[in-house]
Amino acid sequence: MFSSPIIVCFTLFLSLPIVYFFAPEILFPDNLRFGSTIADDDLDDLALFHRAVASVGGGAGHSISTVSRLATKNPKPKIAFLFLTNSNLTFAPLWEKFFHGNQKLFNIYIHSDPSVSITAPGGVFSHRFIRSKSTQRASPTLISAARRLLATALIDDPLNQYFALVSQHCIPLHSFRFVYRYLFKDSVTALANFGSEKSQYRSFIEILSEEPNLFDRYVARGETAMLPEVPFEQFRVGSQFFILTRRHAVVVVKERKLWRKFKLPCVSEEPCYPEEHYFPTLLSMEDPDGCSHFTLTRVNWTACWDGHPHLYTLPEVSPELVYQLRKSNSSYSHLFARKFSPETLTPLIDMADDVIFRD
Ligand SMILES: *[C@@H]1O[C@H](CO)[C@@H](O)[C@H](O)[C@H]1NC(C)=O
Ligand SMILES: *[C@@H]1O[C@H](CO)[C@@H](O)[C@H](O)[C@H]1NC(C)=O
Ligand SMILES: *[C@@H]1O[C@H](CO)[C@@H](O)[C@H](O)[C@H]1NC(C)=O
Repeated sequence: MFSSPIIVCFTLFLSLPIVYFFAPEILFPDNLRFGSTIADDDLDDLALFHRAVASVGGGAGHSISTVSRLATKNPKPKIAFLFLTNSNLTFAPLWEKFFHGNQKLFNIYIHSDPSVSITAPGGVFSHRFIRSKSTQRASPTLISAARRLLATALIDDPLNQYFALVSQHCIPLHSFRFVYRYLFKDSVTALANFGSEKSQYRSFIEILSEEPNLFDRYVARGETAMLPEVPFEQFRVGSQFFILTRRHAVVVVKERKLWRKFKLPCVSEEPCYPEEHYFPTLLSMEDPDGCSHFTLTRVNWTACWDGHPHLYTLPEVSPELVYQLRKSNSSYSHLFARKFSPETLTPLIDMADDVIFRD
């Protein structure tokens, strides 16, 4: 017979990793505080986020040992493309052309709402589906989905240095080569610089503080619900679609304080779009100078309806549209655009080589 002290010690030893992973949830059971049971999504997501943070070590972009290990093999940094979808990836053939010939410079991750039945695209999209959960429009489930994508991509490949979130309605406006050079400028020094605080590499995320209905969105969970973590002066809005550096991807995956507020349900009549607030608010609090404050994904909000931007349809698609969408009011070029309806795929494919990917 084993003596019981040994069994006790052994049990304690075994439970250490469990305590490590779940301690914050055990110590701060915020779900219970708000009257529901622990949301089933929280425990395995937390474990995933902890693994992601642990995998980069220390919390900076990546550990020194990772950098030196990578440097010896002279690899190039990669862009992780994070596809967030709740329908078929209609534009997969266009993206396939975009990725063609650049195999070692990107990774794809797809978060697809499991409650919707879609046809998995082949080619570069084969076997790129991550563990996903149901998502609803204008709800914190979209934040969780984006964080799952970021965490999975962080763990999967230390060479992932930029993380671009796109949807099934997004199209590329430039060639892969253009996008890659635009982001990394000089890929030789990129890896060495990425981890450092002084890195010249910034995240491309829209961060706005002067929108007309910002206050209504702020109080959507109740007058004082966001306090003290998020005073109104620090509440921001911006596009849900962003390109983050690895350092900021870690910040987002690690974060718990603001999430506790942003995951609360909105109680007002109007939708409150938590996914348009969480990321800009967090990054503008953590590292405003490390962010561009604009998005590289063009979207047309003229005459928007019920929170939906303009959906480009067949008669509108032309080379001129592509040129127009690339333009911005400042010195940068948009790299992606949304939203495009499924029937625009054929004309976009037809002009892919001569227009979209010629730059
Ligand atoms: C995806 O496409 C398949 C056919 O290719 C179709 O049966 C299915 O309904 C589509 N799913 C959605 C969500 O539109
Ligand atoms: C934006 O959408 C409006 C319709 O809502 C359309 O008239 C306009 O041409 C679009 N702008 C661009 C640049 O595509
Ligand atoms: C540029 O600025 C004008 C006027 O402020 C605005 O109407 C237009 O939408 C802006 N375009 C882009 C791409 O931001």
